[in-house]
Amino acid sequence: MERIIDTEELTTDEFEKSIRPATLEEYVGQQELKENIDVFIKACKMRNETLDHVLLYGPPGLGKTTLAHIIANELGTDLKTASGPSIEKSGDLAAILSTLEPGDVLFIDEIHRMPRYIEEILYPAMEDFELDVVIGSEGNTRNIKIDLPPFTLVGATTRAGDISSPLRDRFGIVSKLNYYTIEELEQIIKRTSRVLDFPIDDNAAEELAKRSRKTPRIANRLFKRVRDFALVEGNSHITKAITTKSLNRLNVDEAGLDAIDIEYLEALILKFNGGPVGVETISTSIGEEVTTIEDVVEPYLLQEGFVKRTSRGRVASEKAYNHLKIDHNESLF
Ligand SMILES: Nc1ncnc2c1ncn2[C@@H]1O[C@H](COP(=O)(O)OP(=O)(O)OP(=O)(O)O)[C@@H](O)[C@H]1O
Ligand SMILES: [Mg+2]
Repeated sequence: MERIIDTEELTTDEFEKSIRPATLEEYVGQQELKENIDVFIKACKMRNETLDHVLLYGPPGLGKTTLAHIIANELGTDLKTASGPSIEKSGDLAAILSTLEPGDVLFIDEIHRMPRYIEEILYPAMEDFELDVVIGSEGNTRNIKIDLPPFTLVGATTRAGDISSPLRDRFGIVSKLNYYTIEELEQIIKRTSRVLDFPIDDNAAEELAKRSRKTPRIANRLFKRVRDFALVEGNSHITKAITTKSLNRLNVDEAGLDAIDIEYLEALILKFNGGPVGVETISTSIGEEVTTIEDVVEPYLLQEGFVKRTSRGRVASEKAYNHLKIDHNESLF
């Protein structure tokens, strides 16, 4: 099912690129992380060294890719991009590494999906800027070392738990991105409104922020949809009435939950008595992949306290019953 609040980044998403902040200054929220990165960047510029390798993790759409671009931009270097699953052979990695210029940032997205043996080639590259490659064919192979220019690896992942500890240990800076506050999302929405030159009323920006799952990507995407509704209705700016009306039509409720979230909670409560139930069982019941449920649906439901994770499985909270207006036995809680 296609979700309006889908957090997936679409490769064709020119829109996202156009509204991506380019400097730390423009990057809203993630205060602590931003301040640290700012200090590290300044310090390495003063010492004329490369920045330590950075690992960014957190749910989709919170600004990991954006931050990788900003780091390169603030360092005044180029960013080369690769993604974990696309590096299949050692030659793929060697090819990417050989394009690096001194000081460049190499961004590897979905780094947890890189094959383990590729990781092992990456270790000496990260530690000593050296690439160990095997050349020749069967029976007549030898190892050669190739010097690499100093570079900064920025890795991004939605699943920190899937990163092996030897790889994680080689990052000098490991940072988690957090969900945004309503105020921060309002700022992001207003910035997008300025960049796209389509005004939005303050109370409309607030309403949109509340329904954006605390995620900038969703805030921006919903902004775009609401703008369409405004435009078609002959409005030159976005009002709260238009926002509420269009979000209701898009099935995004007041808590930012969409059809899949509701389906998940209804299954949990109505079919499985509120749990505990395993994620595989819920997955089969609602026909969504386990990874989608774990990476995209659940993080927000857990964060907002609709669901709890226990050793015996997922459990619906009182908040979930209330939200769906389903009566429950008081003694449960
Ligand atoms: N701190 C921020 N300030 C302003 N806009 C932001 C911020 N973070 C993200 N955005 C906006 O949200 C969009 C999505 O961010 P981004 O692509 O960086 O997320 P991501 O964490 O890399 O997601 P994924 O895990 O799916 O790769 C960007 O296009 C950007 O416009
Ligand atoms: Mg990304």
